Amino acid sequence: MSIKPINVGLLGIGTVGGGTFTVLQRNAEEITRRAGRPIRITMVADRNLDLARKITEGACRVTDDAFAVVSDPDVDIVVELIGGYGVAKELVMKAIANGKHVVTANKALLAVHGNEIFEAAQEQGVMVAFEAAIAGGIPIVKAVREGLTANRIEWVAGIINGTTNFILSEMRDKGLAFDVVLKEAQRLGYAEADPTFDIEGVDAAHKITLLSSLAFGIPVQFDKAYIEGISKLDAIDIQYAEQLGYRIKLLGISKRTEEGVELRVHPTLIPAKRLIANVEGAMNAVLVQGDAVGPTLYYGKGAGAEPTASAVIADLVDVTRMHTADPENRVPHLAFQPNAMSDLAILPMDEVQTSYYLRLRVQDKPGVLADITRILAGEQISIGAVIQKEPGEGEPQADLIMLTHQTREKRINAALAKIEALDVVAGKVTKLRMEELGK
Ligand code: HSE
Repeated sequence: MSIKPINVGLLGIGTVGGGTFTVLQRNAEEITRRAGRPIRITMVADRNLDLARKITEGACRVTDDAFAVVSDPDVDIVVELIGGYGVAKELVMKAIANGKHVVTANKALLAVHGNEIFEAAQEQGVMVAFEAAIAGGIPIVKAVREGLTANRIEWVAGIINGTTNFILSEMRDKGLAFDVVLKEAQRLGYAEADPTFDIEGVDAAHKITLLSSLAFGIPVQFDKAYIEGISKLDAIDIQYAEQLGYRIKLLGISKRTEEGVELRVHPTLIPAKRLIANVEGAMNAVLVQGDAVGPTLYYGKGAGAEPTASAVIADLVDVTRMHTADPENRVPHLAFQPNAMSDLAILPMDEVQTSYYLRLRVQDKPGVLADITRILAGEQISIGAVIQKEPGEGEPQADLIMLTHQTREKRINAALAKIEALDVVAGKVTKLRMEELGK
């Protein structure tokens, strides 16, 4: 084909950048047949020049100055794979100001500064594509933004952090404590040396924030997300949940309700029989409920060089195809037309409605259960199931597990404050949220 290639400037040639370079080269012919013109990386910026030279083998220009790439007149599309909110933001804004399209895997940047970035892109008539930012290789952005466009989306729930899913799978399989498995995950290279963003749910919150915008046509509002990670999760609760027919997963959840949008990340009990409950190890999965289509499930690798490159290149092909279209005829960045965004508020966590798993350490004597159920009834909380575990040899207290029906977070918190004040209840009550995720 003698059609003029589209030129790409790559910022960062680490794991994903390297994968993007390799896959673009390996599948060049098929990608060109799909895109209608060749997509070639003409310039790479990386602080590690030796690495950049080694990977690119003289196929393109290499620099350690990322700003040179976003200002290069020959670059049509900038691929930002640096990450974080700092220099990455400056580079993306500069690229947009220079009239370049941007493809990014940077969920943190878009979840926090997305509104500003998309607005700037809109003004400049350029595209900002971010398939690789959510669930790596799974084409979830495309599915929600385009494939499900006929639907009123009701909710989205996803296992969108592989590190924590790996840790939870290992805790359940081997009955090990969180700390032990985290060390193992770090040794295997799943978790980063500073795994805070993964284990505390921040990474998942970035991703569900973006999904909530795509699903409901609302601005990105990471600052309103409720975030609870898995670092305080006790292995015993994974076992008890299992005995009750549930698995615990770190879910990103966003639901449309009459009162507003729920936006939350927390460990969640889900019925073990659901397909998504059986997503194990570092795999990701996203469940989307549309009013017309019903539940749809997307599964695949949420991280790694080539899976994430798959998403980056899909965006490159999209941008290449749409490059010559009038900006107003392109697919909107956040699925809905920018002048048709909704101001549906994000609900405060206190107003969220769900059901709960509670574990209490109680004295094993008459009247204890009656005292507890009276407090729950006083908050209009209905109990779905109760089990008491026999105390171990010589132990004065027993574990009492209760599953509630749906209630409001503020009601359960009010009840737990009263329950924890009872003399017969030892320490804090463990509270985990439960979701049925369909019939
Ligand atoms: N750290 C993420 C995860 C991958 O563990 O899934 C990149 O988003």
